[in-house]
Amino acid sequence: MNYTEAKAKLDACGQAHLLRFYDSLSDTEQYELLQQIDALDTRLLDVFAAYQGEGDAKRGKLEPLGALTLEEIADNKNKFEAAGLDAIRQGKVGAVLLAGGMGTRLGFDKPKGMYNIGLTRQLSIFECLIHNLMEVVDKAGAFVPLFIMTSEKNDEDTRDFFEENKYFGYNPEYVHFFIQEMAPAVSPEGKILLEEKGRIAVSPNGNGGWFTSLVKAGYLGLLQREGIEWLNIFAVDNVLQRIADPCFIGATVLSGCESGSKVVSKADPQERVGVLCLEDGKPSIVEYYEMTEEMIRSREADGRLSYNYGVILNYLFRTDKLTELMNNQLQVHVVNKKVPYLDENGTLIKPEKPNAYKFETLVLDMIHLQASCLSYEVDRTKEFAPVKNPDGVDSVVSARELLQRNGVAL
Ligand code: UTP
Repeated sequence: MNYTEAKAKLDACGQAHLLRFYDSLSDTEQYELLQQIDALDTRLLDVFAAYQGEGDAKRGKLEPLGALTLEEIADNKNKFEAAGLDAIRQGKVGAVLLAGGMGTRLGFDKPKGMYNIGLTRQLSIFECLIHNLMEVVDKAGAFVPLFIMTSEKNDEDTRDFFEENKYFGYNPEYVHFFIQEMAPAVSPEGKILLEEKGRIAVSPNGNGGWFTSLVKAGYLGLLQREGIEWLNIFAVDNVLQRIADPCFIGATVLSGCESGSKVVSKADPQERVGVLCLEDGKPSIVEYYEMTEEMIRSREADGRLSYNYGVILNYLFRTDKLTELMNNQLQVHVVNKKVPYLDENGTLIKPEKPNAYKFETLVLDMIHLQASCLSYEVDRTKEFAPVKNPDGVDSVVSARELLQRNGVAL
């Protein structure tokens, strides 16, 4: 795209200010800015206008969804585990680590997985996760292909860290990195921000684009060639995460459901987690802030909360179904975040509070595209230690405590 074309594209959507510093840029910087403008998805501006008019999209009819409970799972453990191990040995299961996020709440300027959760020794989050996965590999006697999603902001650091640490004992032949896409940030007035004179402020576009990015990176052939039928998606920041858990895989396969989701019983009715439920008869995840007070307090005959099962970002999806759904547009969420930007004089402003809006699609919205989802309960004290903040709830401090309770030496 040349300057004239870029100017026309931006004029058409009221964003010509992005070329404000164009004349002061070097040839390379000018070229790179024009590339970014070319790639800019201006439909996001319509999403933002709609968001300002109406807020988030409205929900359908919500109803509670139970779960395969801890007791039921314990009763069928051998059967489920055997089926899961069988699937792993036959190479039917892959795992996808979502590690493209910015981890802004943690305030660590490297990839979140590099964070040292150890106290007396170096123990990165990545190491914890690979250690957990190795337990499955040892049990199955087979490696699980591991796809790691990074973003252009953290890809190099992540790859280098795995290299330097010899993949924490994992077989590198089974590790595949891919990069997710980026989206621009806008001001409250809907103006796209610059982070440098020749660079639009962009950030990772949420964790919902993982399958499209995996395919764009050329891995669909590998999935099909290797006969990987199931993909276990999980977040980088749960240090107790059980990855490719044979019992979960077996239970999902035997249930005949199209997908599976690990869930935990809510710690209290007000806990800020997304809850797996039914929306218009299909599985769906409702965020805590979308629930009415009545829904939050509602209880079933056995005393359990009706909307009891919170998701922990550990899902199983069928590869064939994902391929079929690839062109379905996921809802784009508009989120208010802190974004450093250049003011009109070219001065870099580092905001203290959220000042801009980002666009994200979310993996949890993929659940609603599935005909069915096995809601599979896990014990939160054994499997849920999210590292979102430096201290307080879901923090380094709480995760360390849970790791220690599970016998991990820090
Ligand atoms: P979070 O929603 O906690 O986002 O990600 P985050 O960016 O890591 O953290 P904050 O909100 O800035 O503090 C949940 C999971 O999804 C991944 C994260 O790496 C984490 O594993 N993720 C998130 C991506 O892979 N890409 C994204 O664009 C966003």
